[in-house]
Amino acid sequence: MSKTLINVIDREGAVREVEWEPEQSLMETLRDNDFPILASCGGTVSCATCHVFLEKPVVESLSPRTEDELELLEDAEAYNPEASRLSCQIKQCSSLAGINVTLAPEED
Ligand code: FES
Repeated sequence: MSKTLINVIDREGAVREVEWEPEQSLMETLRDNDFPILASCGGTVSCATCHVFLEKPVVESLSPRTEDELELLEDAEAYNPEASRLSCQIKQCSSLAGINVTLAPEED
């Protein structure tokens, strides 16, 4: 399977290209590459600590947020209806090669 490389922008604005392995969620890739994603619920849609921003066309190309995901995101201080996703809910797909993923600010 071909590599899916993505660009991750951390909370300081630094950009790093990382490889997104097949079968992984975006959250797992961020965690495996040592980005400060707590992912305290392990991807069960109950913590929102894996919150990221994606570009609008990317958001529109993904399957829509589930009710649980939307509920958590709407409670987040940095929620952006056009850009916010929980990275644990996004599966690797070669069509996502080259996307920019921005880590959302940490919640207080
Ligand atoms: S890891 Fe908890 S909601 Fe994504």
